[in-house]
Amino acid sequence: MIRVAAVSDVHLGPDVTGTIRPHLAGIADHADVLLLAGDLTQHGTTDETEIVAAEFRDIGVPVVAVLGNHDYQCDSQDAITRMLQAAGITVLEGSGIVLGLPGGRLGVAGTKGFGGGFPGRCGSEFGEPEMKAFVRHSRRLADAMGTALRDLDADFRVALTHYSPVADTLAGEPPEIYPFLGSYFLAEAADSAAAELAVHGHAHAGQECGVTPGGTPVRNVALPVLRRAYAVYCLGPGGLPRASGGAESRRRSAGSSPLARTGVGEPSSGNRAFARR
Ligand SMILES: [Fe+2]
Ligand SMILES: [Fe+2]
Repeated sequence: MIRVAAVSDVHLGPDVTGTIRPHLAGIADHADVLLLAGDLTQHGTTDETEIVAAEFRDIGVPVVAVLGNHDYQCDSQDAITRMLQAAGITVLEGSGIVLGLPGGRLGVAGTKGFGGGFPGRCGSEFGEPEMKAFVRHSRRLADAMGTALRDLDADFRVALTHYSPVADTLAGEPPEIYPFLGSYFLAEAADSAAAELAVHGHAHAGQECGVTPGGTPVRNVALPVLRRAYAVYCLGPGGLPRASGGAESRRRSAGSSPLARTGVGEPSSGNRAFARR
């Protein structure tokens, strides 16, 4: 069994320096890896990135991240990526990594992803060039992650994104903004590799559990949703099951099973970052 810890949308900045790391003490007792699903900073500055690096470096388990839209705000995403990697944090964008862990080989492929919406209420590559560019950008990022996922030589595969692959985990957000919170292209990419888990953030007012049409369990790990430093999901015997056989089994996989989430991080009370949307 592999224990996957995950969190996103920590939105670190000078006002919340040092607020995450105390909650990561002993994480190796609960998890084998930590995934960060983007929006690590408030405004995508290198100063904020130094804080992120200090919070998550050398925590005792491998850390794998994707960036979020906030991390792009200052057009410094390449510098941010280099800084995080220098701190020992793997940053994925249309790429993947295989980690040899005690419970097996864990493959993680990731992308920030982008919006566009979900079947029946989505954008399409039609009309103005701006609309075509918007949807093509979303498709291109998802396709790159799908290729990386399928190429992983691993026992378990996880799709790591900032934007959501499904609408399930957006429940609680205004329906009008769903197309700006995710894209079904990301679910297609995860399903193309029969991923065991899809982890995302970005939807601060959404809910934790969902499932793709192909049966991949989806977890929204935005900090305001989790309301704890991280969640832990177990992959392997007795762990998170892929759904199959129709809507009912997919609903069960979406979170009603006691096996669907195992273990938790430290409680988050008293941390300003935990209350920010
Ligand atoms: Fe966010
Ligand atoms: Fe975001």
